[in-house]
Formats: sequence, structure tokens, C-alpha cells
Amino acid sequence: MEQTFLMVKPDGVQRGLIGEIVKRFEQKGFQLVGSKLMLITREQAEYHYAEHKGKDFFEMLVNFITSGPVFAMVWEGDQVIQLSRTMIGKTNALEATPGTIRGDFAVHTRLNLIHGSDSPESAEREINNFFRPEEIMKYEKNVQPWI
Ligand code: PPS
Repeated sequence: MEQTFLMVKPDGVQRGLIGEIVKRFEQKGFQLVGSKLMLITREQAEYHYAEHKGKDFFEMLVNFITSGPVFAMVWEGDQVIQLSRTMIGKTNALEATPGTIRGDFAVHTRLNLIHGSDSPESAEREINNFFRPEEIMKYEKNVQPWI
């Protein structure tokens, strides 16, 4: 079963959009297997965005992502990596279509609310950067009578 790393960025946390964002992935049918509200270190942020080092927005991006709490998540499901990218929408605010998270809630490219892994390799690296193995849950959905 495929897993991906999704992160509500500081602007999404401050705007109270965690619930709205989690709801969309739950309703799609994906399973939340790990989550935490956390402050990420500069080292974690630089490792996370290492492929963008040298680009003009790199410093701004690292400063932004470390500026306040993020809501880090691991989601599981068939094709969850590509499907969640579709649900997130385009990076450029002018290209993010309505119906996507960015298209519905983001106005600026820099303040784009959520990050999602773009490949299985990125997902594995990003999950390991933010979660310890024991923080990822294995459970069956809809089998316990109290759920
Ligand atoms: S690129 O250059 O095409 O590889 O960039 P892209 O994949 O679209 O974006 C890489 C991450 O950088 C963020 N980004 C920006 N941040 C601040 N300012 C500007 N102009 C900017 N452009 C891109 C973008 O949101 C990506 O971060 P994540 O967390 O993956 O969304």
C-alpha cells in the first residue's frame, strides 16, 4: 500500500484549515496513519527542500516553513502520492484550479497551504525526515465496533 507525506504549512495552521484539509483526504478514502503538530528545525527544513537549494526562493521557503507550527501527516492508499498532488493543486496560485485545496483557499504562490510528496522516493525520504517508525500506525478501518 502506497504512503505519502503531507504537511499543512504554517499559513494553513494559522488560518484554521487543518480540519478542512484532513476532511478532504478522509472523504477521498485515504487512511491517516501518522500525524502531529510540530515545529520543524532549520536542519529538517533544509533537508526537506534540499533539491531547491540555490533557487532564489530557497531562503524564503525555509524561513517560512520554520516560522510556526506545521501539521505533518502520513497518509496511505492506492495511488495516494499522485492523487493527493491532484487534490492539492498547482503551486502557482494563478494556475490552481477551483476544487483543489490551493485553488479553493490560496491566493499567493508563497503561501500555498500544503506540501505533498511528488514521488515514492520523496515520500520515503520525507516520512523518515519527520516521523519515527513507531509514530506510524497500522490499523484496519471500520472493523472495531467503537469507530
Ligand atoms: S520548481 O522550481 O518548479 O522545482 O519549484 P516547485 O516544485 O514548483 O516548488 C518547489 C517548492 O518551492 C515552493 N515555491 C515557492 N516558495 C516561495 N516562493 C516562490 N516563488 C515559490 N515557488 C515555489 C513550492 O511551494 C514548493 O514547496 P512545496 O512545499 O513542495 O509546495
